[in-house]
This record gives sequence, structure tokens and C-alpha cells, in this order.
Amino acid sequence: MSALPTPGFSTRAVHVGQEPDPLTGDVVPPVHVTSTHVQDGVDTLRGGYEYGRSANPTRDAFQRALADLDGGEAAFAFPSGLSAEDTLLRAITRPGGHISFGADVYGGTFRLLTIVSPAWGLTSTPLDLLDLKAVEADVTGHQTRVLWVETPSNPQLEVFDIAALAQIAHAAGALLVVDNTFASPYLQQPIALGADVVVYSTTKYIGGHSDLVGGAVVLREDLRLPEGVTGWTESGLVADELVFLQNSVGSIESPRDVYLAHRGLKTLAVRMERHSASALAIARHLSGHPAVRAVHYPGLEDDPGHDLAARQMKAFGGVLSIELEDAALARRVAESTQVFSLAVSLGATESLIEYPPVMTHAVKQGEPSQVPQGLLRLSVGLEDPEDLIADIDRALAEARA
Ligand SMILES: Cc1ncc(COP(=O)(O)O)c(C=O)c1O
Repeated sequence: MSALPTPGFSTRAVHVGQEPDPLTGDVVPPVHVTSTHVQDGVDTLRGGYEYGRSANPTRDAFQRALADLDGGEAAFAFPSGLSAEDTLLRAITRPGGHISFGADVYGGTFRLLTIVSPAWGLTSTPLDLLDLKAVEADVTGHQTRVLWVETPSNPQLEVFDIAALAQIAHAAGALLVVDNTFASPYLQQPIALGADVVVYSTTKYIGGHSDLVGGAVVLREDLRLPEGVTGWTESGLVADELVFLQNSVGSIESPRDVYLAHRGLKTLAVRMERHSASALAIARHLSGHPAVRAVHYPGLEDDPGHDLAARQMKAFGGVLSIELEDAALARRVAESTQVFSLAVSLGATESLIEYPPVMTHAVKQGEPSQVPQGLLRLSVGLEDPEDLIADIDRALAEARA
């Protein structure tokens, strides 16, 4: 690969961090399950490794690959998306700090920001990130050091302008964090658009097969702690802080799960193309359906996020949500599909359907930003799209009968 001046996304996804094993020639390097490494002396490590919490070769390989694919300087793998978010927040905020964030976020992120973090002295404001003036006012008014955006958002598939939000954040001395879970690095490159940090639930598209729980953080080059945050390391670089914190709090992904996440990267591009094409076909079909009041999917030409998504994404992803007349109908549909399984999570080979007000976003019930009561979220898998359309049609007909 070193012979290629600018290898493409899929070439890098297959090869970075996957150099054949020097001893055996294994095309797939072995999974390093060891918890400790023999040393050549009390202060002489062999190959740089000491203990599995501090560093692990399988984790390092995945981190190298993900940093490369996201155009970042460094990546860090965590045992879940939420642990990635939590450790990142510990690194870049301090008690008294403020976080401005998009109101339509995953329920677990909402809980972390509005229920857990206040106990450690952080405040936050949920915002409509389409209203850039309001964002600017909140960021400057609160001297926020972290602006947090999920785009496309979970579960209403809103699309936000990463470049514009980066400008607002940077003018105020804040970092822009983008949760890129729905798009994956194949469909969207937040760092190239101006983001400072990218976070993932690798449980979703990166793993891609519903067989691991994981998270990741990717940092742009030379990222420094925001003003007012004194770090534990001398450099003040967020990368050094995360190395220190991961070792200090022990928030690391297991070799088995990080190996599967790395394997997922190799097929990410082809999977995202297929997820996106099938989701678009289903969204188009459902937007003409008499029982469906609204379809939220940025791939539809009349979706409010379409033009922006067409500019900042390569395709529109595999998740869509639909609004039905009321909660009762939505619940009946969720319980009557057969190819779509009724389950939380998303981004995998099998299609999943869920009812956010009671499942993934229950924590937001009663909040101003609560999820519409007739909403269903669909994660479109890799099955034949005709079968998925037939399944939804039949479930809608049965639920309305
Ligand atoms: C957009 C988004 N970010 C973060 C998370 C949290 O990830 P995890 O479940 O791996 O902790 C999720 C989980 O659904 C999510 O959808």
C-alpha cells in the first residue's frame, strides 16, 4: 500500500493496522488476549507494551485504522459509546463548565449530560442546532467549552451544519464534538468539516453485526485542552490527556470486541452503500403510504436536511424514522413486523425496529424535547429491500385492521 500516493477509504480500511504477522505471515494478525507482557528489564519494555489496561496491540491496530479513516491524529477505543463520551467529557471539562448540545440526541447521551454530569458540577443546555443564532448566544453566554452535535440525530434524523457549528464553537474558544455514529466515517468526515473530536458508538455501523458493544473517540491533529481546563499531563494535548485518563479510570475495550470492531471497518464502505440504498427505497415507499404522517430521512428530496446532507455526507445512511397517527398504532406496528426485529440498537446486518418514547429515549419523556409519541425508528439492515418493504406494509395493514 505504501506504493500508492493516496490510497482510498476502502483500501485503507482493509490494510491500515492489518500488516501481516511478521513471525507467521498471518494475513489477519492474531488477537492479543494477554493481560500482561514480559519485560526485558525493570524499566525496559519489549515492544512498548506493559499491561493490558495501559495498551494492547489489538486495540492499537484498530485505533490506528480508525484515526486514519477519520483523518484524525489519534483514536481511542472504549468499552461502549457512553464510556467514550464520559471519558472524553472528563478530559475536556471541569466542574463549573457548560456544555451546549443538540436537543435531539440519543437518550443515553441526554441522560449523561442532563442527569449524571450535573452531579460533577457541569451544566448543559439542549438546543435546536438549526437555529445558529441561538447556538451562538448559548455558547458565548455560558462561556461553553464544548458544543456537542449528533448528525444525523437520533431518532429524528435531523441534519446539522458541522462547518457552521465549528465556526461558532471556535470563535468562542469551545471544542466541537460530533457524534458520527449514524453516518460512520465512510459517509461523513467531521474533522475535514472543522470538528475537533469525533465520537462513536462502535456497537453500531463500525461493528456492524450486533455482536459487540464498544465506543471510540477520534481527535483532530494537535488538539489542545480548551482554555480554563488544566490537564494532568504537561503537554496540554487532549491525546495525552486521554492516554492518561484511559489508564487511570480503566475505560478500555476488550481485545475480542476491538478485534470485531476492526473487522467491521473492512466492510464498512460496502455495508454503508447497501444500508443507504435500502433505507432510501423504504423511505420513498413509506412517504406515499396513507398510514404514515411523516418520514424523517435526509435522503428524501423534500426532507428539511436534504440539501445539507447532500453536501456533507456521501449518502444518507441506514436509519429512518416514521411518524404514525398515535402511540397505540406505533406500538402495534413495532410488535407486528417479522423481518424487522423489535429491538434497540441499530447499524447491523439485521433490520431492527423500535419505539423510542418507551425504549431508547424514555429518559426524555416529559422534557420539552421529548420524542413524538407516534414515532418509530427503523434501522435498515442488509436483507433484500423488497422483503423489508413487504414486512412493513403487512405490519401497517395488520396494525390498522
Ligand atoms: C448516536 C449514539 N451515540 C451514542 C450511543 C451510545 O453508545 P453505546 O450504546 O455503545 O454506549 C448510541 C447508542 O444507541 C447512539 O445511538
